[in-house]
Amino acid sequence: MRVSWLFALALSLYHCGGTQASLADDIVEAINNAKDCNSCHELLVPLTGLAFAGDSAFSSTIIQVCKIMKLEDDDVCEGLVSEQGPIIAHDLRSISPFGQTSTKLCEVLFGLCQAPAVNQFKFPLPAAPTNPKKWTSQGRTPFQVAHFSDAHIDRQYTPGADVQCTKPICCRNYADQAGQPISVPAGALGSHNCDTSTGLAESMLRAVSTQGNSFSIFTGDVIEADTWLVNQTGVTSELTEFNQEMQTLISTPVFPAIGNHDTAPVNSFPRSTTPEATSQWVFDTQASGWSKWLGPSATSAVQHMSGSYSVVAPGTNLRIISMNTIYWYRVNYWLFDSDDFQPDPNGVLAFVAQQLQVAETTGQRAWIIAHMSPSAVDALHDQSNYFDQIVQRYKNTIAAQFYGHTHVDEFAISYSDYNNRIAANAVSILYIAPSLTPRDGNPAFKIYDVDPDTYEIMDSRAFISNLTDPIFQTNPQWEQYYSARQVYSPAIPGGWPANASLSAVFWHKVTEAFEKDDALFQKFLELKTRGFDMEVCAPGDCKTNAICALRGGRSEDNCHVAQAGLNLRRGFGYIREESRHAPNQCEGAHLGTVFSQMPGKMVGL
Ligand SMILES: *[C@@H]1O[C@H](CO)[C@@H](O)[C@H](O)[C@H]1NC(C)=O
Ligand SMILES: *[C@@H]1O[C@H](CO)[C@@H](O)[C@H](O)[C@H]1NC(C)=O
Ligand SMILES: *[C@@H]1O[C@H](CO)[C@@H](O)[C@H](O)[C@H]1NC(C)=O
Repeated sequence: MRVSWLFALALSLYHCGGTQASLADDIVEAINNAKDCNSCHELLVPLTGLAFAGDSAFSSTIIQVCKIMKLEDDDVCEGLVSEQGPIIAHDLRSISPFGQTSTKLCEVLFGLCQAPAVNQFKFPLPAAPTNPKKWTSQGRTPFQVAHFSDAHIDRQYTPGADVQCTKPICCRNYADQAGQPISVPAGALGSHNCDTSTGLAESMLRAVSTQGNSFSIFTGDVIEADTWLVNQTGVTSELTEFNQEMQTLISTPVFPAIGNHDTAPVNSFPRSTTPEATSQWVFDTQASGWSKWLGPSATSAVQHMSGSYSVVAPGTNLRIISMNTIYWYRVNYWLFDSDDFQPDPNGVLAFVAQQLQVAETTGQRAWIIAHMSPSAVDALHDQSNYFDQIVQRYKNTIAAQFYGHTHVDEFAISYSDYNNRIAANAVSILYIAPSLTPRDGNPAFKIYDVDPDTYEIMDSRAFISNLTDPIFQTNPQWEQYYSARQVYSPAIPGGWPANASLSAVFWHKVTEAFEKDDALFQKFLELKTRGFDMEVCAPGDCKTNAICALRGGRSEDNCHVAQAGLNLRRGFGYIREESRHAPNQCEGAHLGTVFSQMPGKMVGL
């Protein structure tokens, strides 16, 4: 497999090299030799040479490779590489091919290096109080909060268009498919190969509104996965449109976070140390679209803190801190354009710590929300580690954390000692919400029952709409799919008291139950994708690694191992691979996926 791929790559470079012929020869030879981390660094030398020939020379070479290899449809090759190629060329011109940043680039682009060890850094934090406030439930009736995520609304979704296609999302009238017979016509509202229709999004927002929730959190990704086509004008208008729809259809406040798709090119959030580019237009757009819910001071934070903000939910003593974690996201290629140690890109960590200190000082509890969880395979280890230090310091103040990004219904746990991950050391719980987009499961949202005194989660209930239900295409029904307390508390030895919250300790005990009771673990896998295309993960390495990932609140501890070839497609927003078929989840069960993606590596160049 690998040999024929390299042979075709070599041919393509010989044919298309033109004036860059000797450079192309060098690149081919280096790719041929790139079998481990050291040789990946050597490969970066000729690639850097190509980058110095200019963005267009760099991108056009890679576009040719992509097309000849048939890695994607021609239009997808052109769009993806034209948008992202220049960022990687900029990186290569800015860093040493042999430094730590290039090791990270080798990990992200080729999977040939493992992520380097964390750069030890003590994040500056004020001392903890000697007498921390104790938060105790008064046993009052919980209130409800909705959590929805990963909307991925495709405004070009076309009923009747083919649900089968060769592009990352289908159900669209693509020019190069015109006149071809339709194999399966898209229904009015949705299909698993497609992103969310506007009708499905409206139906979900209405369902959220009828649940009587006090407020909602939305953990990002408004834009559909047509990542080869996105531009600033289109993204700005789609962000604005969804902000208006949320305001119209949900009567209570929504507290959003910024997702990696909510910009153009996708994932692209340059740091403030990169003067060549900026995402300020995203922050300005969202500040104006969110101001009604956030008020003046948090709205100003969105603009000046790179999309992060902090706000007290109305009528509560709860501070919601929304972080832009895309500055820690390993396929935000702008993060690899410097060899300088930058522990806190754009000051997001310092802002979060400062807001937690405000909460502690004023006797408030806090929720952390963001798109990508710091536990994710995609979270850079350094920033995840420094964030974890903040969590340890403010563990009494943080009641829970909420994320999205993976499209599946899961969770992660932080520990005071990652070498000894036991119930007594479990300090913080990260709830990761399922997606609205049907790509990776039935469309879903969560309703949390929240204790009004501690702001801890008493129950987490998923609502889904079932795509295979015949009524779905005309009048989608949203029904409670499961209650976490009902499913999991009977599995905890001695049970779980009705008045105790679903805390980090509770969820640690759930992972212990998974170890002993495989049927319960398989149930968790079914719930993850809401009964659709269930993951295969048997006892043994797959299950052990999956449980390790649940106990990996700090990404360096999630047992993920980089593998050659698995990496690049996710850089363009193919969430399916990163969430479902990640090697830490199901290695072996999806060997076919590994091979089929070997060529996919080159696309990301
Ligand atoms: C930008 O994207 C929109 C779709 O969101 C498209 O209609 C428009 O033609 C694109 N503009 C350019 C200059 O490509
Ligand atoms: C639950 O109720 C029991 C009995 O009233 C009490 O001892 C315990 O402290 C309560 N637990 C919580 C978390 O409120
Ligand atoms: C969805 O509906 C189909 C057909 O009625 C049924 O077989 C399936 O179990 C349902 N899935 C879920 C998750 O409820």
